[in-house]
Amino acid sequence: MKLLKQAIFLVLFLALGCAQAQEEEEILPIETRVNARLAAVDKSPKVWEKVRKVGAERALFCSVCHGEDGNSKKDNVPKLAAQNPVYLLDQLEKFADGTRKSFVMQDLAKSFSDQDKIDLVVYYARSSRAIGAIGDPELIARGKELYAKCQGCHGEDGMGASGYANIAAQHATFVEATLIDFRDETGNRNNPVMTAMTQGLSDADIRAVAAYVESMPPKKFELVKPQPSEPATETKPEAVSSEE
Ligand code: HEC
Ligand code: HEC
Repeated sequence: MKLLKQAIFLVLFLALGCAQAQEEEEILPIETRVNARLAAVDKSPKVWEKVRKVGAERALFCSVCHGEDGNSKKDNVPKLAAQNPVYLLDQLEKFADGTRKSFVMQDLAKSFSDQDKIDLVVYYARSSRAIGAIGDPELIARGKELYAKCQGCHGEDGMGASGYANIAAQHATFVEATLIDFRDETGNRNNPVMTAMTQGLSDADIRAVAAYVESMPPKKFELVKPQPSEPATETKPEAVSSEE
């Protein structure tokens, strides 16, 4: 019950801390704000230092389970370090609205303000992911073959395109449990795409592919380049320069 007390404390702490921080930007969609913050962090070590400090403070309680810098030592708890921030954001929303079930994460996620989420996901996105454990080489080799059908979305190196999760070096135990949740539709995770992708896999296949995923070298999250179909950001009419 100590944990529950900590949780209540944290919720209060987050609620108080965030109020003054959300001001000017809050009209923009949250994803835009995340990407802008990430770009700012990448441009300036000073900004990163600030974000790291705020993020680490916000993540103090999270680190009980997710480890320092988001490198969880518990193999049933996902590493958050170097995770795609848009994916993290999406998962927090899924916890909050009950699409994804987790005793701890659901109430926690409901308590976050937009500003909390931005601070947390950018902090985690730019933390370095620790290497995974290397399991049985035969299992990994079998898993590598099976991974061929995962590459289209999660990438050859485990760092998928745009919104997809960065799964490289993720704990095999977590990956295995997650794939079983999708395959067997236990109700913990709901995603028709992943359910379809795991339909043909036996328990042994899932163990193998999970061992391969954990054995992959960790990948840094790459900020997605603007899609060609999106309006170019440089044509901002209000950005008039002062030179006349
Ligand atoms: C008591 C342990 C515990 C604490 C504290 C905790 N988490 Fe979690 N978290 C988990 C577990 C376990 C999961 C995996 C849930 C599942 O898939 O069944 C998880 C999953 C997540 C995920 C989904 C990641 C993914 O790759 O799918 C996010 C995001 C997350 N937590 C964020 C946070 C944040 C932010 C905090 C702190 C405010 C936090 N968690 C605190 C245990 C915890
Ligand atoms: C067609 C695209 C697609 C393919 C192919 C695919 N996935 Fe996924 N995967 C997704 C999507 C979308 C999600 C997010 C699901 C959600 O929001 O719950 C996901 C989530 C996951 C997660 C959860 C990550 C986390 O941190 O919560 C794991 C692990 C995963 N996939 C592994 C695999 C493996 C292994 C394969 C191959 C057997 C595979 N995926 C094939 C689209 C795909």
